Amino acid sequence: MVSAATRRSLLKARAMDLITSAAILPLLFGCVGVFGLFKLLQWLRMRAYVRDAVVVITGATSGLGRECARVFSAAGARLVLCGRNAEALEELSRELAASPAAQVQAHKPHTVIFDLTDPGATVRAAAQILKCFGHVDVLINNAGISYRGTIVDTSLDVDKRVMETNYFGPVALTKALLPSMIRRRQGHIVAISSVQGRIGIPFRSAYAASKHATQAFFDCLRAEVEQHDIEVTVISPGYIHTSLSLNAITANGSTYGVTDETTAQGRSPAEVARDVLAAVGKKKKDVLLAGLAPTSAVYLRTLAPGLFFSLMASRARKERKSKHC
Ligand SMILES: NC(=O)c1ccc[n+]([C@@H]2O[C@H](COP(=O)([O-])OP(=O)(O)OC[C@H]3O[C@@H](n4cnc5c(N)ncnc54)[C@H](OP(=O)(O)O)[C@@H]3O)[C@@H](O)[C@H]2O)c1
Ligand SMILES: *[C@@H]1O[C@H](CO)[C@@H](O)[C@H](O)[C@H]1NC(C)=O
Repeated sequence: MVSAATRRSLLKARAMDLITSAAILPLLFGCVGVFGLFKLLQWLRMRAYVRDAVVVITGATSGLGRECARVFSAAGARLVLCGRNAEALEELSRELAASPAAQVQAHKPHTVIFDLTDPGATVRAAAQILKCFGHVDVLINNAGISYRGTIVDTSLDVDKRVMETNYFGPVALTKALLPSMIRRRQGHIVAISSVQGRIGIPFRSAYAASKHATQAFFDCLRAEVEQHDIEVTVISPGYIHTSLSLNAITANGSTYGVTDETTAQGRSPAEVARDVLAAVGKKKKDVLLAGLAPTSAVYLRTLAPGLFFSLMASRARKERKSKHC
C-alpha cells in the first residue's frame, strides 16, 4: 500500500527527471553550442584579420619580439622584422622562411636594421618598411630597454637613453608610418608597454617614466585616429622571461648583465606573444597581462594611493638594504 504522500513525492521526482532531460540538458547544450560557435566565429575573424596582413615588429631579434614574429608568421602574416642586430634578424628570417606556414603562404620576411635612438635613421627606416610590401597593416612597437638604479646616482644621459629607446623611438616610427595608414583608412598600431606604465616601482624610474609616457601617447593617439578607422592597442605585460633584465642599463650607463629573479620567474615569451596576437586579432584597446598581485597594485594606485605609496616606500627600504645601493 503506497501512501498519498509517497505517491506525490514520486510524481514530483519523475517530473523533475522529465524537466532535466527534456529542458535543462538541451538548454545547457544549446548554451555551450552557442558559446562554442561564438568563439569559433571570433577565432575565424581573428585569423582572417591577421592572415596576409603586413605586420612590422620592432625588437624582433630577442625575447617577446622574436616570439611575436614566430606567432604572427604561423598565423600567415607578412612580416617586416626590425632590430639593430643584423645577424640575429637574418637568422630569424631564415627560420621563418623555412617554417611550414611560410611554405604554404610563401611570405618571406623582410628585415630593416636601424637604431630607434636615432630619429633620422628611424624616419629613413619607415620609408624602407613601407617599400617592403607597399603598406603597413599592423605596427608592433615592441623594442625596449630597461634600467636599474637610484635616481640620485643616475646620470641624465641614462634617463635620456631609456626615453629615446622606449618613447621617442616608437613615437618617431609611428608618426612616420601614420600618414600612409590615414590615406588608406586602415591600420593598427600596437605599443608594448608594461605594468610599469601604470605604476612606479622604486629603482626603475627611467623605465617606468618611459612606459607611462608610452601609455599616455598611445591613449591620445587612439582618440585622434578613430575617425580614420585606425586601431590602437596598448599591451601592459608583467614580468616575462627574456633578456630585458640582462640588457638593462644602470646608473652610469653600463649594462646591468644580471637576470633578476623576477624576470627569471616571469611568463614565457611565447605565451605572451600568443596573447599579443589575440589582443591584435580582437582589436583590443588596452590590455593588462598580469597576475593578481601586479593587477591589484594597479588598482591600489588609483583607489588607495596612500597605501600604495607606503608599500613602495617599504619595498625601497628593503631593496636598498639587500643590495646596499
Ligand atoms: N621582459 C619583461 O619582463 C617585460 C615586462 C613588461 C614589458 N616588457 C616589454 O617588452 C618589450 C620587449 O622586451 P623583451 O623583454 O623581449 O627584452 P629583450 O629580450 O631585451 O629584447 C629587446 C629588443 O629591443 C631591441 N632594442 C633595444 N634597444 C633598441 C634600439 N635602440 N633600437 C632598436 N631596437 C632596440 C633589441 O634588439 P637589438 O638588440 O637587435 O637592437 C631586442 O630585440 C619591451 O618593450 C619591454 O619593455 C618586457
Ligand atoms: C658603473 O657602475 C657599475 C656598478 O653598477 C660599476 O661596476 C662600473 O665600474 C661603473 N662603470 C663606470 C664606467 O663608472
